[in-house]
Amino acid sequence: GITRRYKFNVRMATFTRLCQTKSIPTVNGQFPGPKIVVREGDRLMVDVHNGIHTNVTFHWHGVRQLRSGWADGPAYITQCPIRPGQSFVYSFRVVGQRGTLWWHAHFSWLRATLYGALVVLPPRGVAYPFPKPYREVPILLGEWFLAADTEATVREVLRTGGDPALATAYAFNGLPGPTYRCSANSGTFKLKVRPGKTYMLRLINAALNDERFFAVANHTLTVVQADANYVKPFDATTIFLSPGQTMDVLLTAATNPSASAFAIAAAIYTNVVGPFDNCTGHAILEYSHSPSPSPWNVRKRLRLRAPSFPMFNDSAWVANFAAKLRSLAGATTVGLPQTVDRHFFFTVGLGADPCQSPVNGTCLGPNNTRMAASINNVSFVMPKTTSLLQQHYERRRYRPTDFPAAPLRFFNFTGTPPENTFVTHGTGGVSLDFNTTVEVVLQGTSVQGAGSHPMHLHGHDFHVVGQGFGNYDADKDTINYNLVDPVKLNTVRVPVAGWVAIRFVADNPGVWMMHCHFEIHMSWGLAMVWLVNDGPLPNQKLPPPPSDMPKCS
Ligand code: C2O
Repeated sequence: GITRRYKFNVRMATFTRLCQTKSIPTVNGQFPGPKIVVREGDRLMVDVHNGIHTNVTFHWHGVRQLRSGWADGPAYITQCPIRPGQSFVYSFRVVGQRGTLWWHAHFSWLRATLYGALVVLPPRGVAYPFPKPYREVPILLGEWFLAADTEATVREVLRTGGDPALATAYAFNGLPGPTYRCSANSGTFKLKVRPGKTYMLRLINAALNDERFFAVANHTLTVVQADANYVKPFDATTIFLSPGQTMDVLLTAATNPSASAFAIAAAIYTNVVGPFDNCTGHAILEYSHSPSPSPWNVRKRLRLRAPSFPMFNDSAWVANFAAKLRSLAGATTVGLPQTVDRHFFFTVGLGADPCQSPVNGTCLGPNNTRMAASINNVSFVMPKTTSLLQQHYERRRYRPTDFPAAPLRFFNFTGTPPENTFVTHGTGGVSLDFNTTVEVVLQGTSVQGAGSHPMHLHGHDFHVVGQGFGNYDADKDTINYNLVDPVKLNTVRVPVAGWVAIRFVADNPGVWMMHCHFEIHMSWGLAMVWLVNDGPLPNQKLPPPPSDMPKCS
């Protein structure tokens, strides 16, 4: 491989969307940020300069960071933040994975605007296991936030113990599209296609807190990759992505299209009880040589040809879609543990804290509590003085603390819900010997009815060996595990009122975060770390940190 260099100049830049002009944090003045392209085996060097007035870090979501954990990015886990005016070079190789990944800020909620595609092409001369597409197009499903200052809004609401529930418009590659009032034609993402040609859409759900259905009217999509791992191709008219997930799909343009333009659409999945934005966001698939229609026409015509989505809360549909993801034979079942050294059972879900800093006499969580989230009822406390990786590396005796082997509190989906949903607090984690094979059952549970949790593991891919609804039952459920062709992912959805079982090999020394990729749940504490210790051989040890590593002040 070769070395590919990028410069990330983090700075504020002014953008106008939906008749609103505001200044947002950007990389190089772009929103979404620049696309990074590497080949498998290349070294990537990203020179970041922080020119905004808040700390920042960057995470290369899904990149395994084999023995390069210093470059992983989560603030206070693998590094101290890059302070205003400072620089840091992220340097790492992309090894043993190809497909679509992405990068995003990993400090506070800055990833709202600091994100972009990270495309890993096969090594030179190596073909895809499907016909080469005519063109490849990243589509980042994100948002345009209506708040003037997203960070300020988030800080204030988190202080008062509530849910920021930021008002947003759906955006495709940063463009809200013709569904919304005040959206000029220039504000719509257009994918121009030629009849008969095949396109690979590199889909990335970069939304902060929304799971998304995705579809293109009148066109079938063939799923070929998930989280930069090949899957057995399957056809779908609707795709589903949780925040953090990526999926490559093939779209073949009709030879004789019935119209010149079709809707590309995204809609939310949710099972919240209250009101939510149930509108559909649009972009446009346009056949070449067709005249550009005016925004009004587009709006009317899109309505005529809009794809239909499952119900916003159809969790059975989503489970069914998830079950279709299977590893392509021979390619990605490599590294699937058939036996397991250590089993873990973790409840993941929402909970509460007693109201200690009321605003006007109340906290904004249910029954006058502060909202919280936890794993085994431990709500994650972010270290503030040094990174966990630094501590581990310098003292060689850092151990994650406060992490119980089983949930502290009763949970149930099929009968009486738990009464006590209060959490405890700690920088929870588990220490693993090098090359330990691990199985984790993630059981969803929640204080206000069930919700889903897209759980993301840093530094490793894992195989999804089982999933189901209700309470996990080891005796019954292990029998149905898929140990033949389970999909390999870095972000998996714990279904609403259900569970998922994953397996991975702890073959990457370092400190790795596992957390819910809903930003709000992470802020409430739905996170933990895995500390993977060095192995005995020289090439099984974490090298020393780079010399320009940021220091905590
Ligand atoms: Cu994409 Cu720790 O996140």
